[in-house]
Amino acid sequence: MKNSRLHSLQKELLDGVQTKLAETKSLLQNQDLTKLIEGKTGKGKTVLITGASSGIGAGMARTFAKLGYNLAICARRTDRLQALKTEILADYPDIRVELAELDVSDYEAVFTTFKAFQQQFDSIDRIIVNAGVGEGRRVGTGRFHINQRTAEINFISALAQCEAAMEIFREQNAGHLVVISSMSAMRGMPKHLTVYAASKAGLAHLAEGIRAEMIADNLPIKITTIYPGYIRTEINEGAPKLPFEVDEATGSNALVAAIESGVEEACVPTLPWLVLGKAMKHLPLHLVNKLG
Ligand SMILES: NC(=O)c1ccc[n+]([C@@H]2O[C@H](COP(=O)([O-])OP(=O)(O)OC[C@H]3O[C@@H](n4cnc5c(N)ncnc54)[C@H](OP(=O)(O)O)[C@@H]3O)[C@@H](O)[C@H]2O)c1
Repeated sequence: MKNSRLHSLQKELLDGVQTKLAETKSLLQNQDLTKLIEGKTGKGKTVLITGASSGIGAGMARTFAKLGYNLAICARRTDRLQALKTEILADYPDIRVELAELDVSDYEAVFTTFKAFQQQFDSIDRIIVNAGVGEGRRVGTGRFHINQRTAEINFISALAQCEAAMEIFREQNAGHLVVISSMSAMRGMPKHLTVYAASKAGLAHLAEGIRAEMIADNLPIKITTIYPGYIRTEINEGAPKLPFEVDEATGSNALVAAIESGVEEACVPTLPWLVLGKAMKHLPLHLVNKLG
């Protein structure tokens, strides 16, 4: 390699490291939503959230409403969506909330629902691929259909959502795709988490591939992968206390703070999961197992 090319590669690598450090710094500094709420940073913008009928989907909807965003919310349980819409509009009557029934395993419906939301709002600024299931069984114990369903909802249905979102963003030449992966995606996980973790790792890789393409094609579409730690919701209902768990409101606020910062990837809440995530990548598996 010629000296000049080597220098330029070294410079690019160092710039890349600096960008990553700056992202980490901004994540650590931007945990407080007060300024975003006061500034109504979402005013006039629309965020679409799948799986918004409970848990962090509903929680993020509440927090984005505080920031002034219009909301396009969907899930199968429309009674929950309607109750959420009523609750949010009572507190924030100036925003617009539209809802739709959507089963994300009906792939055609994913495309038509997203498109219908785009037509209702004229444009969609951000789409959050959040719908997911946590069911799983030890591999090889005769419960393939349960693991198959988890793999399908968390990966294939998520792929359909990414496809539908990117079609809209390519047409608009603008947008922000956010996928909700999981800290469990950092490594292979045992027991009921094996397929769940694999599906979430697949989703994170998918998002990275789409991001790589946006960079290669120089398109102004942002892709963010979120790795949540344990947040107490219906997905882990009945489970005993989980490592470093936070409640739904704390988790949802932390998720919105990370998403608003516009970083490529974020472990949420940033602490302790940013540090644990780095450790999980390298620790021996028997230690990583303890987080599962
Ligand atoms: N809570 C955590 O600790 C944690 C950690 C890491 C990642 N996550 C991820 O965060 C996301 C949200 O989970 P959560 O914790 O908020 O759990 P949750 O309360 O159980 O919410 C799951 C949401 O997904 C929707 N959903 C499930 N299957 C669907 C389907 N076939 N079609 C459409 N929507 C469907 C549900 O809506 P309907 O049933 O009404 O359709 C519900 O709104 C999931 O992707 C999960 O893997 C959660």
